[in-house]
Amino acid sequence: MMRTREDIARTIRQDGYVSLPAAETRRFFDSDGTALGGEPWRAFAESWGDLRPDTYMADGGRYRQRRHATYAATPGGEILRGAHRPHFQALQHNPLNGGLERWFEPVAAQVGDGAPMMRLLAGAREVFEASCGEAVPWHIEAHQFRIEARPDAVGKPTPEGMHRDGVAFVLVTLIGRENVAGGVTGIRVDGRDGEASFTLEEPLDTVLLDDTRVWHGVTPISPIDPARPGHRDVLVLTFARPR
Ligand SMILES: [Fe+2]
Repeated sequence: MMRTREDIARTIRQDGYVSLPAAETRRFFDSDGTALGGEPWRAFAESWGDLRPDTYMADGGRYRQRRHATYAATPGGEILRGAHRPHFQALQHNPLNGGLERWFEPVAAQVGDGAPMMRLLAGAREVFEASCGEAVPWHIEAHQFRIEARPDAVGKPTPEGMHRDGVAFVLVTLIGRENVAGGVTGIRVDGRDGEASFTLEEPLDTVLLDDTRVWHGVTPISPIDPARPGHRDVLVLTFARPR
């Protein structure tokens, strides 16, 4: 089945979220096949090997590495990288690590301005604007995350548990998984009991969600082969309305 942008947007409106298998992400976000495959994608994914430790972990965890970038989208116009600035989440949205400005190392220039990132930003904006029916000057944040799983310590993709990010829309795409079990994404819509759950397994398996309706969380990861470490790499894009 080949879903159109409008099909994908309608699913977000109806269900609060949509998950796209990698092949569909590629087809939708990269129709000419020049950005999310081959050398551009290889270099993009490889940049997850050069992240920096998150030193703000209130649980004392040392299992998370990351980089951060901000972008501004003018309605119908370009998406431009913004000045480096801190990441802020209210305590209400992140009781564990929120409530303060957190400075993270910037996403490398060639990664932040490269074709894979720009395609994902542009495609996400299209879907989210089709979903909410309006074009606004979005404040966008991009997070590169690597969660490490060691034989003696699980890695927690969402140490704060089930949560909202405190924005309008969120895209999460898997960059890669190496020697890890677990990492199951749970989704709770409109506060209803019961969660949908699925696992982002292949690079570019993606979920797009309406953060005003959906709580999300990811279960801990541990190494499949306990003799060596593992990791789970994701890109998270958050779209917020201007304050
Ligand atoms: Fe989140």
